This record gives sequence, structure tokens and C-alpha cells, in this order.
Amino acid sequence: MLPGDGIGPEVTHAAAAVLARVRADVECVEAAVGGAALARGLQALPPETRALCDRSDAILFGSVGLPEYEGKPLPERPEYALFLLRRDYELYANLRPVKVFPGLEEASSLKPEIVRGLDLLVVRELTGGIYYGRPKEQRRVDGVDEAVDTMIYRAPEVERIARVAFACARARRKRLTSVDKQNILETSRLWRRVVDGVAREYPDVAVEHLLVDNAAMQLVHRPGAFDVILTENMFGDILSDEAAILTGSIGTLPSASLGTKGSTGRQFGLYEPIGGTAPDIAGKDAANPTAAILSAAMLLRHSLGDEPNAARIERAVEGAYAGGLRTAELAGKAGGALSTSAFTRAVIERL
Ligand code: IPM
Ligand code: MG
Repeated sequence: MLPGDGIGPEVTHAAAAVLARVRADVECVEAAVGGAALARGLQALPPETRALCDRSDAILFGSVGLPEYEGKPLPERPEYALFLLRRDYELYANLRPVKVFPGLEEASSLKPEIVRGLDLLVVRELTGGIYYGRPKEQRRVDGVDEAVDTMIYRAPEVERIARVAFACARARRKRLTSVDKQNILETSRLWRRVVDGVAREYPDVAVEHLLVDNAAMQLVHRPGAFDVILTENMFGDILSDEAAILTGSIGTLPSASLGTKGSTGRQFGLYEPIGGTAPDIAGKDAANPTAAILSAAMLLRHSLGDEPNAARIERAVEGAYAGGLRTAELAGKAGGALSTSAFTRAVIERL
């Protein structure tokens, strides 16, 4: 369990409490990561933390990133921990399910009838593309400062994430939207060609290709038309935040980052809320723990093969919302907001 920064500790402890309620046999061991580690003079991902991850079956992650580190080089920022964990454990498949809970339609900035019943899944490639490509540097050339990031994909990287997305689509409504920028980018032309190749193995899944700018627009125009959205690392970063807020609160969205545990070849996963550290409300017992709790459910499903308890937790959260329970950001003017801990207790009571 790597709680990290901002609201990370509060929501991760909430998730751990829910996990403990359904699985007394799961041992949660905590370690420092991100700004919480940097503040103690450690690296963003201290060697002891990495060693703990090596010994673990899965990582329950909070969030990392704090305003005071903005502008520092990546290795000195809290986010570097995530960057390393994703890369070193090859967590290439990032699943970000986006669901509007019944009763929360009014909280969305879109019209309730547009988001009612929304249920889509963003499958984001997480270990390639412009995040990791080399060269990646700032330099001075002919007396002028310049900077370069490199967007690069190799066909096998595209193929394996496409397989994950097609398998997800097959288990859902059998529609897959692949998002790229093939009118401009070579990486996108490769992406589209490889996705079309994989599509032949899944004739029961309907495939469409959208350019990323159009996809961004369609997400707010007709979000209900999407089932699985497959896309590369940076487009997925951007589109998944956009998709998340359709639900009314980014505090409700969990994620799973799946891959193999490096040289061991074992399946491994990191589970985290996608919402970020929200430093403005950190330590106030005001954050929405839903995303962290649902991330624990995904951990049960994908890393421990425990579908029954994963589904139980999801039903308990749904029940809490259907019963009108709200944390501050969703209660808004209506009042009656529950604290992080009170909402968590309400979920646990429903288990
Ligand atoms: C995310 C976050 C990360 C990313 C940051 C914290 C490095 O925004 O998980 O979406 O860009 O991938
Ligand atoms: Mg992001």
C-alpha cells in the first residue's frame, strides 16, 4: 500500500478498511512514495518501497504530486515514482472504467439524459509513447534553448494493448473505438494498422477509428455511444480525465494498471484512483474515497481472482449512492455531505 501525497493517505486507508472487511487474509503493508518520500529525504520511489513491491502480489496506490515540486526535473518530482513503477513492472495496460452511478446524473456538467447509464472503459497504453521515448531532454543548440520528447511505438507494444482492449470489449458490449491522430502522426498510422490486424481475431467486436480531437468532442457530445476506448499513453491521459468528469466527480473513478512483474514474468497490477492528490482538501476528511475503494475492488478482481468480493464492494458503493449518500464535492449546495470516514463506514455497513 503506497498512499503517497495529498488525499492519497485518507482514501487509501479507506480502501484498505473496505478490503480488510471482505478479506481478512489480505495483508496490507504500507511504504513511502512520492512527495511523502521526498519530504523525508528519500527518493520518490525509495529502494525499500520497491523491495516491498517486489515481494507483494499487487500495489494499492494513492496518488502522487504536490504543487511545491512543479517545475523540478522529473526525477525530483513525486510523479517519478509512478513513472518508474509503470515502466519497471511493465504495467502497460491501464484500465479506466467510467460509470455514472444511478442518482448522480444531476452532478454531471452535461445534461442528465446524456450521461444516464454511462458505462465505458478507457484502455490506455501506459508504458510507451511520448512518456518514455528517447531522446527526452532540454538542451541548448546554437545558443537557443530547445526541448524534445519522442513519441515512439513498436508494433508489439500496440498489439499487446490492442489484445487487452479487444478482450475487454468482447466481455462487454462488443464495441471498440481506437483513438489516434493518423492524419498527422506516423505512430498513429502504425497504431491503426496494428489495431486492424488484431481486429481480425475478434470478428464479433465492432471497431471504429476516431481522430483524437474528434474523440474529445464526441465524448461530451454522445458519451453513451462508447463502449471500449483504446488509445496510446498521452491521448489516454487526456481523454480519461475528460471521460471521468462526465460522471460528476473525478473522485469516483478507479483504475488498474496491469502487466508482468518484470523478469519474473508474473502477472502484476497497480491500482489507483485517477483523481490526483487534491492538496486543497488534503487532511480534512473531506475527499471522496470511492475511487480508492473501487480500485481495491479491481485489485481483488484482477490480481487476486476474487470476482465475488470485487462485485460485492461495487454493489455496496452503488448502494451508498442510490441511498443518497454523498461526499462534499457531490453534495454541493444540497448539504448533508458525509466525511471520507463516514462514507467509508456507510460502504462497509452495506457489505
Ligand atoms: C495519470 C496521471 C499521471 C500520468 C501523472 C501523475 C504522471 O495524470 O495517471 O493519469 O500522466 O499518467
Ligand atoms: Mg492523468
